[in-house]
Amino acid sequence: MLPLRLGDPEDFARVAAALRGPDFEESAVHRILRDSGNTALGAESIEPKVAGGLASSSVLLRLFIELKRVPRAEVEAALDRATVDSFLALDLMRGGDADCFESPVFLYPVGEMLIASDHYNKSSGADSVFPAIQTGTLHLLKLLPRSAADDALDLCSGTGICALVLSRYVRHAVAADVTARAAHFAEFNRRLNDCGNVEIACGDLYGPVQGRTFDRIVAHPPYMPSVEEAKIWRDGGSTGEAITRRIVEGLPTYLRPGGDFLALCLGSERDEAPFHLRAREWLGEAEAEFNLIFAVRKYLSPEELAGQVAGGENADGVERAFREAGVTRFCYGALAIQRHEGAGTRPWTMRTKLGASTGADSFEEVFGRSRACTQLEAVADLRPRLAPTAKATVAHRVDESKFVATEVLLETEFPFAHAIEFEPWIFPLAARFDGSRNVATVYAEAKAGEALPAGFGFEDLASLVAMLIIQGYLTIDKA
Ligand SMILES: C[S@@+](CC[C@H](N)C(=O)[O-])C[C@H]1O[C@@H](n2cnc3c(N)ncnc32)[C@H](O)[C@@H]1O
Repeated sequence: MLPLRLGDPEDFARVAAALRGPDFEESAVHRILRDSGNTALGAESIEPKVAGGLASSSVLLRLFIELKRVPRAEVEAALDRATVDSFLALDLMRGGDADCFESPVFLYPVGEMLIASDHYNKSSGADSVFPAIQTGTLHLLKLLPRSAADDALDLCSGTGICALVLSRYVRHAVAADVTARAAHFAEFNRRLNDCGNVEIACGDLYGPVQGRTFDRIVAHPPYMPSVEEAKIWRDGGSTGEAITRRIVEGLPTYLRPGGDFLALCLGSERDEAPFHLRAREWLGEAEAEFNLIFAVRKYLSPEELAGQVAGGENADGVERAFREAGVTRFCYGALAIQRHEGAGTRPWTMRTKLGASTGADSFEEVFGRSRACTQLEAVADLRPRLAPTAKATVAHRVDESKFVATEVLLETEFPFAHAIEFEPWIFPLAARFDGSRNVATVYAEAKAGEALPAGFGFEDLASLVAMLIIQGYLTIDKA
């Protein structure tokens, strides 16, 4: 039997009002969880909004965060009768005639939403509903796109947290998960947060939204390598990529031109290709329509991961499976993909780092810059200038008693930390971009001055400039 009752709107409103009080404030609740030695929250920092002292003896904290049995008299002293009845009506509290009340679920504030899930330590079974108050989800929430869009889809939605947060920025959001338990919790959370523009769907990945398309797709798939599918929220096939791969393969069908995709996942690097290029291949024949960023948070060796997966047992077998697949290392991070609207400039791929300061704006900045560079004609009219965060290091070697430039290393910090090596002729060319001349003029001048290599045409320069703008080496004034 599923916990939580989809009761009356008045019950949801009364419960939400009680949970929005100072006793249950988000940063304080997170701090209490972390201070209690909760490792699921990792080192993720949540901006503290209220630093005031909170009595961890609060009835709500004990019931919903610590999952303790609380004497009836204490609950009735803290909450009015109607509120207690509403908690009981929604099955957030149980007690009957006993002397204590207790909650069948874990309930907490996160992403400015109130979310019910299963608890980390109290698994309901294979379909346990993944807590949204956990390092991975908190990280994904920090990276979720905040720009306006029409239709969004949250795949592998669990509690529905990403769809609920996205619903503040988009016209309509769908939360889709394969388990009926997750869909039930998500519907409960939708009502608790009064999100009228969120739709809950249940089924295998895109199954429940067949025939529809979206401007924004986000996913936090199960990505742990697994020998068997024991936990639906966790197990992602033998190298952890099975679900992520199917999600990416579906983008040509479900993501609209101009739309964006974001997932937090684990990928594997192979002898034949690094993860970001393998992810690009998963897009299939439509691959050229997509731009792709993979921002790595951390690397894990196959041995390290095999130890975690197998929990000490059969780690050799798991490691062998990784070796047979040709895995050289695993990388955990954010995969962001944009479908471009035109086909003027070449599709681009960017591999970068996911730092502590990386936020939603980093990806949105790159995608926004990319939109400004979609058409070659548009690039011709741009007047880029060297970005203030750009840095160039020119390496020289001695040739016939003279220093000769051999390569140029360009580095930038914004929107992402990034570095790229070029041949020396790029250095004076890039220096021509000072914001006073457009790209067409710079091309004409450089060509007249014989500053370009043979066969390097305008299209090549426009694609190069587009790339330098997108990666953050050149900047353009916003209209
Ligand atoms: C890591 S949890 C993420 C939950 C939530 N999005 C979050 O970030 O807190 C992965 C979720 O994927 C769901 N899932 C697993 N396989 C799926 C599939 N084939 N189709 C849709 N959902 C799936 C699980 O039920 C689980 O809720």
